Amino acid sequence: MNILVLGSGGREHTFAWKIAQSPSCKNLYVAPGNSGTDDVATNINISVTDFEAIKDVVLKNAIDLVVVGPEDPLVQGIHDFFLEDMLLKDVAVIGPQKAAAQLEGSKEFAKEFMTRHNIPTAGYKSFTKDNVDEGYDFLDSLNAPYVLKADGLAAGKGVLILNDLEEAKTELKNMLVNEKFGAASTRVVIEEFLDGIELSCFVVTDGKDYKILPTAKDYKRIGEGDTGLNTGGMGAVSPVPFASERFLDRIENEIVKPTVEGLKKDNLPYIGFIFIGLIKVGDDPKVIEYNVRMGDPETEVVLPRLKTDLVTIFKAMANQTLNNVIINVDERAATTIMLVSGGYPEAYAKGKEISGLSHVKDSIVFHAGAQNNEGRTVTSGGRVLAITSFGETYQEAIKKSYQSIEKLSFDKMYYRRDIGFDL
Ligand code: AMP
Ligand code: GLY
Repeated sequence: MNILVLGSGGREHTFAWKIAQSPSCKNLYVAPGNSGTDDVATNINISVTDFEAIKDVVLKNAIDLVVVGPEDPLVQGIHDFFLEDMLLKDVAVIGPQKAAAQLEGSKEFAKEFMTRHNIPTAGYKSFTKDNVDEGYDFLDSLNAPYVLKADGLAAGKGVLILNDLEEAKTELKNMLVNEKFGAASTRVVIEEFLDGIELSCFVVTDGKDYKILPTAKDYKRIGEGDTGLNTGGMGAVSPVPFASERFLDRIENEIVKPTVEGLKKDNLPYIGFIFIGLIKVGDDPKVIEYNVRMGDPETEVVLPRLKTDLVTIFKAMANQTLNNVIINVDERAATTIMLVSGGYPEAYAKGKEISGLSHVKDSIVFHAGAQNNEGRTVTSGGRVLAITSFGETYQEAIKKSYQSIEKLSFDKMYYRRDIGFDL
């Protein structure tokens, strides 16, 4: 098979790394890719939302399968674009169609879906600028902290958690009336605050059946002890040690099954990954959010633990024979630590040379914001490298990642030294 992966982060390097190991993969392309994907595939410099350019690449390279990494092209309907095109309709696309991608593209859509299918989640109401006064009243009826969510995609910045009621009202107004997040916040979901520990569950589905992949937990805040600004993710651990067999069964029965059944009942065709962000409140699992793609950096710990051939899974998803696939998982723990550019998630420098890459032997280095430039590998994004290691325990794996990190450097390199601290 000729395969195209769309995206340019650590997630896509991990996909490419795993796909390249498959005997079914003939030619592998990544668009636009990074210095890591350059090692295992051919990079093609086009945007993940330029559907016409993607079409040209698919036709020119006789691509059989497209794996969509990020949410943007899915929410914009890349799968529908393929299905509606005479020349592309038989190309397999891993990622849901536009209607189902609303599970990530609209918080309100996701909340209505969960309510309709009795999937446990935080209580909520949603508001537009026409009923902002009712929004203030709803805030008055809740206890702190207050959770405000821009309905649409806001590059991971659209959720505000505020302790002060007046500040929450001001922010609600900023979002609805002053378009703080542009069109994404013309509607705002206000949610009950859930207190607990978070984890994520990853599911592949062909729209009929599903298979559950290893769990993972990511660390979203920039600072140690989970403090400071939210980032795309600073590290991840898989499996999640506090997710007991019994708790995982509850996630499957109370959340995964009704989600896949709900997609069927609502006529939402879905061939792709479902990333379920969960919170354990007391003993109960509840859904914080759906994403219609894999997580980053969760992919960097989930896929390395997957022993089953990934292309076999993708083919079965596309042919709707996923039920016949057996998912085998490495029992060892995997952890990843993100190395980021100083300043991230705010302003940071780019183009800094990365050194030591060839000295890392005991970990897998997945490239995120890194590019090749005249024989050197330089930083090109906030999150630069993800250092993944295996261990009999997550502590052992984390230790290995930190040892590997000592061999790596670039100007103003920063990372959290406490990944796993809360487990
Ligand atoms: P989301 O983009 O919906 O995943 O929200 C981003 C982060 O905000 C989550 O990972 C949680 O840490 C936090 N969060 C979202 N919703 C809630 C909630 N209802 N209660 C507590 N924390 C939440
Ligand atoms: N690491 C969280 C995400 O990919 O959304």
